[in-house]
Amino acid sequence: MRSRYSQIATILALLFGSAHLTAISAQEGMPTEPDPIADSKSGAERGKSFYLINCQQCHDADGRALANIDFIAADLTAPDTWYYGTTPLHIFRSIKFGAGLEMPPFEDTLEDETIWQIVAHVLNIGPEETRPTKE
Ligand code: HEC
Repeated sequence: MRSRYSQIATILALLFGSAHLTAISAQEGMPTEPDPIADSKSGAERGKSFYLINCQQCHDADGRALANIDFIAADLTAPDTWYYGTTPLHIFRSIKFGAGLEMPPFEDTLEDETIWQIVAHVLNIGPEETRPTKE
C-alpha cells in the first residue's frame, strides 16, 4: 500500500510537472547509484567521442559553449554555474532526461552505458577535484 505521503508527493510532482521536485531516484529509468564508469579515465576517453557527436553543436568541442549565439548552453567546465545539479547522478539525469527547455533528452538515442561514459568526460573537463581517478 502506498503511503499518504507518497501519494501527496506524486500529486505535487504531477501538479508542478518537474523532475526537479521528485527525488532523483524516483524517476523511471533513473539509476540509484552512479556507475563506476563515471570515475574511470578509460570511460572519459570513450565518452569524449560520444560527446563530440552528440553535444558539441550546442556546448562546443571544449564544453564552454562560447560560440553559440542562438541560446546560452551551460558551460560544462564550470559546474558552479549550473542549475540542475553537479553530482555524477545529476549529470546523468540532465543527459538522459534533458535539462530546462533547450537541452534535449537522450533517453531514446543513447544507452545508459554511453551516457555514463559522457558523464565521465564531462567530469574530466571540469574542476580537477571531480575528475575521474581510476583507470
Ligand atoms: C540542442 C542543444 C543542446 C545539445 C545537443 C546538448 N545540450 Fe546540454 N544544454 C543545452 C542548454 C541550452 C542547456 C541549459 C539549459 C538551462 O539551463 O535551461 C544545457 C544544459 C546541460 C547540462 C545541465 C547544466 C546545469 O545547469 O545543470 C548538462 C550537464 C548538459 N547540458 C550536458 C550535455 C551533454 C553531455 C550533451 C550531449 C549528450 C548535451 N548537453 C547536449 C543545450 C544542449
